[in-house]
Amino acid sequence: MSHERADTAGLTEPLRPATPRPEVPELDVERVRADFPALAQRVNDRPLIYLDSAASAHKPRAVITALAEFYEHDYANIHRGAHALGSRATTAYELARQRVATFVGADRPEEIVFVRGATEAINLVASSFGRLSLRAGDEVLVSEMEHHSNLLPWQQICRQVGATLKAIPIDERGALQLDALDRLLTTRTRLVAVTHVSNVLGTINPVAQIVRLAHARGAKVLIDGAQAIVHQPLNVRELDCDFYAFSGHKLYGPMGIGVLYGKYELLQRLPPYQTGGGIVDQVRLEGSTFLDAPWRFEAGTPNVAGAVGLAAAIGYLEQLGMSAVNRYEQRLLEYATAALQTVPGLRLIGTAPQRAGVLSFTLNDVHPHDIGTLLDEQGIAVRAGHHCAQLLMQRLQLPATTRASLGLYNTRAELDALVAGLHKVVALFALPAPRPGALR
Ligand code: ALA
Repeated sequence: MSHERADTAGLTEPLRPATPRPEVPELDVERVRADFPALAQRVNDRPLIYLDSAASAHKPRAVITALAEFYEHDYANIHRGAHALGSRATTAYELARQRVATFVGADRPEEIVFVRGATEAINLVASSFGRLSLRAGDEVLVSEMEHHSNLLPWQQICRQVGATLKAIPIDERGALQLDALDRLLTTRTRLVAVTHVSNVLGTINPVAQIVRLAHARGAKVLIDGAQAIVHQPLNVRELDCDFYAFSGHKLYGPMGIGVLYGKYELLQRLPPYQTGGGIVDQVRLEGSTFLDAPWRFEAGTPNVAGAVGLAAAIGYLEQLGMSAVNRYEQRLLEYATAALQTVPGLRLIGTAPQRAGVLSFTLNDVHPHDIGTLLDEQGIAVRAGHHCAQLLMQRLQLPATTRASLGLYNTRAELDALVAGLHKVVALFALPAPRPGALR
């Protein structure tokens, strides 16, 4: 099987440097909401209030339409079909790669690897970079606030090669202790893998500073950007990180598509992650040679429709402007932080000075799952549990929290409803015998 490259010709040139955007207008949230069909529904006979975008965000009509149009017109396998649809699908897929590259500020489209999600992106680096660069006695640094997806892959590879995994501690507010990072970085540190924004605390980590500190000691840096890229503009070139991972479904795109950004020279040195069709140059029984990055990392039939849908999501966000999204959400976060503190017995978990739209809390000794269920009865969707961050929960000495997370479509009125709902939970649990369903 030959790997057709004709349709991608012209996409291999370095991208032009990003030109400064003109000042973007303020986000008009009511117009934005009209673009998201799922938000118009009722749940438990109440208007849906969706405060779980950190788990997965809803999709604008532009994404749903792009998916439908792809399946209705251009659908075919890519890089191999000698026919018009194969060629159109290939072009759509490679243009999606280019669109992602521009959105994140990459030097060239070949720095963008399509994967299933942030989890697969990090597993790819742990496996490929780990096999290339990690040896017994080496060290990998993560932080205490990592999601399991940026912890377990490192735990596995460190075990396999005999390397040591260490965690940068956090302080009482949920901010990283940078002085500890400075102490933990040694000449044995090969890689620092940290989240850009905590999915539990909302903490925005000073990743540019972390990159500078790590590079000064010769360590590479991977940033888990799953919770960050949805809230603020990103420029990986300015950040100078070596790898940046994120998922499409949190970025208002489809499930099952994600991105690994990697510096091109570094990606070129990494061995394939999975092997199979679509990634080879020559195959012999004794051994094979592989394509250049990024195609070397995309074995099998990729999620072409997912990439097309992600490109549509990015197009939608670009037209709103990520700076406008960021300004709107920051104001909403301030409002939510103040409003939640009016609920008696509520304790915010995560009060670092720089935060994105994630609000975790406990409420007296009411179990977070009960809070989640009682809010759901009022049409309010939040998440409850350990949020795939058990290391952090141990550090906080909490079994679980309730989490409300913000998307670009949430409003102050919705946060007022959340606060009113929590007041009802407090009142209900103050009664001798709480009756589930009694909140209506
Ligand atoms: N990682 C997602 C979350 O934190 C699922 O909710």
